[in-house]
Amino acid sequence: MTMREILHEHRARFAWASLLIIIGTGFGLMQPLVAGQVVSTVQLRESAWPAIWTLVGIFVVQVVTETLGRYHLEVTGEETARSLRRRVVVRALHARLETLSAYRSGDLISRIVGDPSAFQGAVTHGYLDMAIGILTLVGAALLMAAISPLLLITVVAIIAIAALGAGIFLSQLQAVATKKQAGIASLTADLESVLIAVRTVKTSNAELRESERLSRSVQRVLDAARRGAGLTAAATPSIYLAATGSLIAVVVIGGSQVADGSLSTSELVSALLYSTYIVVPLGGIVEGYTSVAAGRASLRRISEIVSLEAEYEYGEPSTMQGPADERTDHPVVFDRVDFSYAATAPPVLRSASIKVQRGSRCLIVGSSGSGKSTVLNLMCGLYVPQAGSISTLGSTPSGQDLRQLRSKIALVEQNSPVLHGTAREAVSYAVPQISDAEILRILSSVGLDGVFPDSCSLNRDLGDLGATLSGGERQRIALARGLAVRPDLLLLDEPTSSLDTRSFESVMASIAALPRDVTVVMVSHDYRQLEWADSIIEIRDGGLVWKT
Ligand SMILES: Nc1ncnc2c1ncn2[C@@H]1O[C@H](COP(=O)(O)OP(=O)(O)O)[C@@H](O)[C@H]1O
Ligand SMILES: [Mg+2]
Repeated sequence: MTMREILHEHRARFAWASLLIIIGTGFGLMQPLVAGQVVSTVQLRESAWPAIWTLVGIFVVQVVTETLGRYHLEVTGEETARSLRRRVVVRALHARLETLSAYRSGDLISRIVGDPSAFQGAVTHGYLDMAIGILTLVGAALLMAAISPLLLITVVAIIAIAALGAGIFLSQLQAVATKKQAGIASLTADLESVLIAVRTVKTSNAELRESERLSRSVQRVLDAARRGAGLTAAATPSIYLAATGSLIAVVVIGGSQVADGSLSTSELVSALLYSTYIVVPLGGIVEGYTSVAAGRASLRRISEIVSLEAEYEYGEPSTMQGPADERTDHPVVFDRVDFSYAATAPPVLRSASIKVQRGSRCLIVGSSGSGKSTVLNLMCGLYVPQAGSISTLGSTPSGQDLRQLRSKIALVEQNSPVLHGTAREAVSYAVPQISDAEILRILSSVGLDGVFPDSCSLNRDLGDLGATLSGGERQRIALARGLAVRPDLLLLDEPTSSLDTRSFESVMASIAALPRDVTVVMVSHDYRQLEWADSIIEIRDGGLVWKT
């Protein structure tokens, strides 16, 4: 993804903005000529008013066109930032889990929030400012050449020396901008982990320690910013040299030319104004370059996410077929599956094979860390095995079938996350069209009728990550969300670990009440589940072993 591609998407408005600003700049360039004319009419003792009114008119047109142009440019910036944010979010959520988990979530957040803003800065204050600056500079130089080539050569020579000085410092800006953005990302990531674990931080008396760690991240950002400021500041004397140096040169050389009669006073006035028109844009060019450097650094970080491999092609309208055979007798088949989370990590599964019968109530047991949750993740295609094959509901859980397949599976995760929003949104998350009556029925079946007795209670905001719920309530909301899907395959990861006997019984009853052909695979440490299951699989040394 390049700057040009992004701007191309917003080309109409960007072109319109550029055109208006360029017209404004063009009118600006006419001003010194007309100002010179005012002087010469006064010299000739003619009325200066027509020239003065022309000058005012030019000024008004310049202000109006530039204001309009700047407005469109700001809007273009907002639009590019929005479309970049959307792209990163969509791709991040579609990316493979193994690649995505290489990033800290705070780092991803900063790539979604911060980096598009930096790019926006490059769009609104970068490219065009540089282009306009260069345009003004070249335009003014040409007009000045018509007045006095000698003056132009002098000014250009001074500016060339200054530009050389500034260039040495400014060329390092891009690297500094990259460092700064990376610093902001690590700060966001640190902050996020602290906020999520704030209870642990407090009860471990670690507030100061964490604050210091965060301050160090802040310091790193500041160091990079300071270096950037130093580079920009170091370039400033060169700009002063260009500004004052060329002005003095024009006054001295032009003044002598007026004295020996080779230059008229009005020409000197125009030349003086043009020399400032050459110098003033230099500041804009430097600022524009700074913004562009930051924007490019950010775009690189955004592109990295946007180019992550997706689980399946999601851009096209859905023409996907369903799983090959939903009515298969064996909704879960593992055939000599090898899996590890990373090349360097020890294998979790080694040549693991199972076949689960349709309609069975299957319990997966095994010691902590043996790979129980991993097996459920593999069934949903959240990870792909390195060797062997997996079939879920008759198709391989990867590629284009994935979306369709997942609409027939419900996974209730171990730590039962609830996103944010109301109880209604939490339960109907995968099936938004479900009615309130159905939601209430499901909530009642998992023993939450006391907490959510009526439609009105479904409006209750559950807080960020379900913060206003107890662990057991969260777990049952997650189960309700799974049941609402009416899945063919229900995968439950320790769904009763936080429940007392009464809640346990209502949860088990709700699972028992599922239609007979729904296959349920449950991971559990809970011996109360043994009588519920009709088959038990143990994970031992990376293998899947039938217990019954
Ligand atoms: N996302 C992950 N990245 C790397 N290793 C992981 C990841 N998730 C789990 N593991 C490791 O894989 C092994 C199996 O984990 P898991 O399936 O969660 O165990 P269980 O659910 O049986 O307690 C553990 O050693 C765990 O540390
Ligand atoms: Mg687990």
